[in-house]
Amino acid sequence: MPTIRRLSAMEILDSRGRPTVACECELASGAVAAASVPSGASTGAAEALELRDGDPKRYRGLGCRKAVGHVNGPIAAALAGKAFETQAALDERLIALDGTPTKSRLGANAVLAVSIAFARASAAERGVPLYQHFADMLGLPLATLPRLTVNLFSGGKHAGGQVEIQDVLIVPASAKTIDEGLATIFAVYYAAADLTSKKYGVRSLKADEGGLAPPFPNVEAAFDDAVAAIKAAGFEPGRDVAIALDVASSHFFRDGRYHLGGAALDSAGMIERVGSWVKRYPIVSVEDGLSEDDWSNWPPLRRSLAGKALTLGDDFLCTNPARITRAIDAKAADALLLKVNQIGTLTEAAKACRLARAAGWRVTVSARSGETEDNWLADLAVGWGGDQIKIGSIAQSERLAKYNRLLAIEAQAKLPVVAWPG
Ligand code: PGA
Ligand code: ZN
Repeated sequence: MPTIRRLSAMEILDSRGRPTVACECELASGAVAAASVPSGASTGAAEALELRDGDPKRYRGLGCRKAVGHVNGPIAAALAGKAFETQAALDERLIALDGTPTKSRLGANAVLAVSIAFARASAAERGVPLYQHFADMLGLPLATLPRLTVNLFSGGKHAGGQVEIQDVLIVPASAKTIDEGLATIFAVYYAAADLTSKKYGVRSLKADEGGLAPPFPNVEAAFDDAVAAIKAAGFEPGRDVAIALDVASSHFFRDGRYHLGGAALDSAGMIERVGSWVKRYPIVSVEDGLSEDDWSNWPPLRRSLAGKALTLGDDFLCTNPARITRAIDAKAADALLLKVNQIGTLTEAAKACRLARAAGWRVTVSARSGETEDNWLADLAVGWGGDQIKIGSIAQSERLAKYNRLLAIEAQAKLPVVAWPG
């Protein structure tokens, strides 16, 4: 049984140069492993609390010394020398130590760093790959690799607000392997970079997750260029390469209206607009098509997209089992975006994943806009049977660390990629 000998944390920097938490966990067996946690920018209001120092003189208040101190102090003191038979036992102890609903006392960043470092050390102690350990944690057989969904164009909070919606993603729909999928993505990404730099006369700037961010006049222009890039790369839109959206609409929802391209749409108008996009473009998944608090309109959104595109909840669900249960009961979505740091422990995220699966939903395992070079996300997506994985573009090493890990897992585990969108 894994017994914790030592826990230690330090502050490191994420892909935006902002502090985050890295933790090292050593077990009595001598197994030792480290893990670091990501951080979002386009966050949901119901997310677990990421503890920041608040000292404006250091990293604009974003320092993580308090969170690090909580690992090195009270968490290490409470856990050192203790044995935990399962991940759930460790996480339950962490949740009790914190004692708040949003992990605001110790910080979800502190708690999650410990949770993942322990999982990785436990996998090492068992002598199994991390993805296998994650699969065993959920009691699932290893069956598939996730389908890639990769940022092509960005707007919203991840770019300069060129367009309101946050991500136009491409999906290598006909690729049989991760390897083939990445080659497909490369072809379309660089076709899009060539096309938009000619069209707009500027070398496209890259957003937080590596998406291209040319000055599109409107959202539809971004979709048109995505389709043109897919064709220019020699693929058939919809059949070979499809489109997915992260509308992230909570971030342009003000005073009961969706402020999109000069219009102020009500919820019915927004559902109609999203429906018109799905009709006109090969869109197979729509994330946060409505705001996180627009509960009563999510069921009609899902009904209008059913059979054409997934209704995927990110800010809407926040990987939160209570919100997911409510959404399942209301038939408000049919896919979960799973971000472990929205809830703060692996065990709670596993519960979210299980609930979604039991309802017949799809699951997209997702990175954050602030990532580190850690690659546990790839193992998690494979081990938990994620249907999709959303990591960002193929332009920055914190993203490539996960893509490269997927390639390594594919080479080792020889699993097929999920058949989606079909
Ligand atoms: P975030 O964005 O990591 O900045 O929250 C990712 C997303 O909205 O999917
Ligand atoms: Zn999102």
